[in-house]
Amino acid sequence: KPRVLSGIQPTSGSFHLGNYLGAVRQWVALQESHDAFYMVVDLHAITVPQDPAELKANTRFAAAQLLAAGVDPERCTLFVQSHVPEHAQLGWIMNCLTGFGEASRMTQFKDKAAKQGAERATVGLFTYPILQVADILLYQADQVPVGEDQRQHIELTRDLAERFNGRFGQTFTLPAPYILKETAKIYDLQDPAIKMSKSASTPKGLINLLDEPKTTAKKVKSAVTDTDTVIRYDAEKKPGVSNLLTIYATLTGAGIPELEQKYEGKGYGALKTDLAEVMVEFVTPFRERTQQYMDDPETLDSLLAKGAEKARAVAAETLAQAYEKVGLLPAK
Ligand code: TYM
Repeated sequence: KPRVLSGIQPTSGSFHLGNYLGAVRQWVALQESHDAFYMVVDLHAITVPQDPAELKANTRFAAAQLLAAGVDPERCTLFVQSHVPEHAQLGWIMNCLTGFGEASRMTQFKDKAAKQGAERATVGLFTYPILQVADILLYQADQVPVGEDQRQHIELTRDLAERFNGRFGQTFTLPAPYILKETAKIYDLQDPAIKMSKSASTPKGLINLLDEPKTTAKKVKSAVTDTDTVIRYDAEKKPGVSNLLTIYATLTGAGIPELEQKYEGKGYGALKTDLAEVMVEFVTPFRERTQQYMDDPETLDSLLAKGAEKARAVAAETLAQAYEKVGLLPAK
């Protein structure tokens, strides 16, 4: 089986709809056909300031949400990044292969650093993509299911894998991004020019999966649409309604042409009312399942411990090879 690996940050408390449609949904599908490794990337979360108690709670919350979304530890390896120390260890090796200028070109770093004020941004934030490179290479992943915003980090991963292989001999698999065109970028409901995100979206434009379903319905109903009233998919001219159609189609399995036909001659109000209902039907059981996992932290923690053990078996082998190739003297 080909291997996939991906990660999600525990920073937010709740996943948002972009995380789910852009990534987690694909994780669930791929665990059927692939040897899948999925992790909560707590080491990445601390590249920006975190409250320790919240970080711990959010890490469990993230794992609970993955399980609630259908990530199944019987079908994949689900773990917490910091439980596998090899990530930080290979991260160091990769740091030593990355050019300063190369790292400086990472657009997500530039955006995040600008938001915090360049002086406050940490070196950890700067090397964030390089830790991500280590995440992926440790498992010899063939494919990495993510949203569009992660594409550049996967390109960096390929570059560094090639560089390492070229310098020290074949060691790492070159991974390909697995990005579904339709859901690669879910947009803010209030400003369809920007992607939905914890940091940039306004509260009304951001669908948190753990919000009260009532709140979610309200946000959908007040989504910004476009100036005319025709319900048609046109990402360029009608970004607002196109985003809603994408969400609707993905959550229900309906085709976009089918939806266009269904709403022909009807107004945006009808579309939004129906989509609000679809959303409520999706988030209500999702919240309940997440809560069930949160109510039993012991089971959750032991499940994550098992995942970490499986992950470590793979990661340790790759790290040993990398150490050997680089010429680090093995401890006797
Ligand atoms: P993170 O935690 O920011 O986001 C998790 C996943 O959600 C996707 N995503 C979106 N997709 C579509 N539309 C959106 N509006 C949207 N917002 C977020 C992201 O693309 C991502 O796939 N650096 C990663 C975590 C990471 C990782 C890895 C991923 C660490 N190591 C190794 C893959 C492989 C991140 O911050 O994702």
